[in-house]
Amino acid sequence: MLRVEDLRFAYPRQQTPYLFSLDARPGEVTAISGPSGSGKSTLLDLLAGFLQPQAGRIDLDGTDLVPLPPEQRPVSLLLQSESLFEHLSARRNTGLGLPPRTPAAEAEPKIAAALAEVGLVGLGEQVAATLSGGQKQRVALARTLLRARPVLLLDEPFSALDDATRRAVRMLVGTLTARHGWHTLLVSHHADDIAALAQRRYELVEGRLVAA
Ligand SMILES: Nc1ncnc2c1ncn2[C@@H]1O[C@H](COP(=O)(O)OP(=O)(O)OP(=O)(O)O)[C@@H](O)[C@H]1O
Ligand SMILES: [Mg+2]
Repeated sequence: MLRVEDLRFAYPRQQTPYLFSLDARPGEVTAISGPSGSGKSTLLDLLAGFLQPQAGRIDLDGTDLVPLPPEQRPVSLLLQSESLFEHLSARRNTGLGLPPRTPAAEAEPKIAAALAEVGLVGLGEQVAATLSGGQKQRVALARTLLRARPVLLLDEPFSALDDATRRAVRMLVGTLTARHGWHTLLVSHHADDIAALAQRRYELVEGRLVAA
């Protein structure tokens, strides 16, 4: 269980601080909506450790994540335009989810299994620059699989995809979340993404998360 408890944060010169509280269960997608500028990406940055709160806890199964630097947090972040290395193959981009210097004999079967799980069999050698938007998001999900981090943060991850691709990729997110017990937090402006995926919903209103 991921429990954000009275997480307080203000940017310099911000009058009223954000005060975030939410619960997210493993194997479920928790949606966060709210108008542009309401603080959704700020919340994800706090969870990822890119911003430090002034008070509060981010409790994951009894451990407070707040003192941990970003690289030590059990958190993966997936953005709208994916941060793949464009000149590397799908296979090598996926392999970046494994610890550095994992022996090839151990890495290769894991990479192949992850690519298969996201539906990219046969595309492992293709350079990322030549993949479609949906295929890139699948590679990013394969890399997330190998990272095996239980919290997945998605910030408008489907925005750049056409309708059919967005439906396929979001279904994959739901399947992987349930199968691997991820706590997936989905920031989206799209009511249909939220309706299709989320078991739990919050709306960001005046700096607070309100169960919706
Ligand atoms: N580094 C910063 N310094 C000061 N203010 C910031 C900073 N980053 C964001 N803000 C402000 O904080 C508010 C929340 O920004 P945030 O990016 O979290 O909104 P959002 O809900 O993700 O919006 P969108 O839906 O447009 O992505 C905005 O008013 C923004 O201008
Ligand atoms: Mg944002």
